[in-house]
Amino acid sequence: MVDAAHEEENLRRTSGHTGLMQHIVVIGKTGQLARALIARADAHNIKITAFGRSDCDLSADAETLRAFAGSLPECDGLIIAAAYTAVDHAEDDTDTALQVNGVAPGVFAKECAARNIPLVHISTDYVFPGDGETPLKPSDPTGPGNAYGASKLAGEKAIQASDVRAAILRTSWVYDGTEPSKNFMKTMLGFARKYDQLTVVADQVGRPTNADDLADASLAAIGKMMHEPDFKGGIYHVSNTGIPVSWAGFARSIMALYAKKTGKHVSVKNINSDEAFEMFKQKARRPSYSVLDTTSFETEFDHKLPEWKTGLANAFIAWESWQ
Ligand SMILES: NC(=O)c1ccc[n+]([C@@H]2O[C@H](COP(=O)([O-])OP(=O)(O)OC[C@H]3O[C@@H](n4cnc5c(N)ncnc54)[C@H](OP(=O)(O)O)[C@@H]3O)[C@@H](O)[C@H]2O)c1
Repeated sequence: MVDAAHEEENLRRTSGHTGLMQHIVVIGKTGQLARALIARADAHNIKITAFGRSDCDLSADAETLRAFAGSLPECDGLIIAAAYTAVDHAEDDTDTALQVNGVAPGVFAKECAARNIPLVHISTDYVFPGDGETPLKPSDPTGPGNAYGASKLAGEKAIQASDVRAAILRTSWVYDGTEPSKNFMKTMLGFARKYDQLTVVADQVGRPTNADDLADASLAAIGKMMHEPDFKGGIYHVSNTGIPVSWAGFARSIMALYAKKTGKHVSVKNINSDEAFEMFKQKARRPSYSVLDTTSFETEFDHKLPEWKTGLANAFIAWESWQ
């Protein structure tokens, strides 16, 4: 179910095919988004140089981070794809989470400002308290309910405090179908092999985001910022679109694809957030309503975001390819 016409139109609009290949530095190499960015560089006619943990541990002190940022090669734009994403661990490891998610983005932002190049940074729906009922706009009041969200919000503020031209893209429920990743879809598919029934939280609603679609959106954002030097950027929401779904509903859609492929039908039992908190020994509370309103991103960057069912079908195809 690859929406090829749609994808081509997005590429045509956003990669800014000028004939000159632009060079983008990506902070992060092994994560879902970083790998999706690297995989899509050719299609977007750009050169990407990615830096991973072995090049610089982002939990290092600010001086080390500044030295690393200063040593980055000459480039036309920078995307921060790495982050401390272990949401439960962050509750007990707040200093590391804050250093990686809160301090390091500010250091890269200052470096970008000094070089006069644009920055794209990825943030999260978890900066919101998640107690609303209507899709969240970038201007809605923040109020993270866990340490991970607080650390990501600190990163947004550090970037905003610098003099950089930046697009901060808040996203939600990121996953892909590639072999190295750990994510909800792959966990569900792993369980589907072993069990006939899965137990999944049903009172947290959001919209899943295929990392490939997030990568395309990030490249659209950096593309516009590289080509329009007067465009200052801002905070935007980027997720797959379509009718919002609970984690349990998302699991049922994954299981429907699994049943079609294997003939095995796996049911999904609903539980609520309190039950999940106990059952899965979670440490961080998750927002109950995480639906991001992507309108301002799609309008500003002239970039249509695919529906989450399309994103899921594509991730499932990617997963099937290495089974
Ligand atoms: N995943 C989600 O559901 C989700 C939801 C909302 C927002 N986001 C945001 O989306 C962005 C992309 O997330 P993702 O799903 O691609 O993340 P991911 O797959 O979990 O990858 C995180 C990356 O960050 C790197 N990293 C973590 N700590 C580091 C450190 N101290 N020094 C250097 N590198 C470090 C990891 O390197 P190693 O491989 O070496 O550990 C990995 O490459 C992040 O900003 C994240 O906060 C994600």
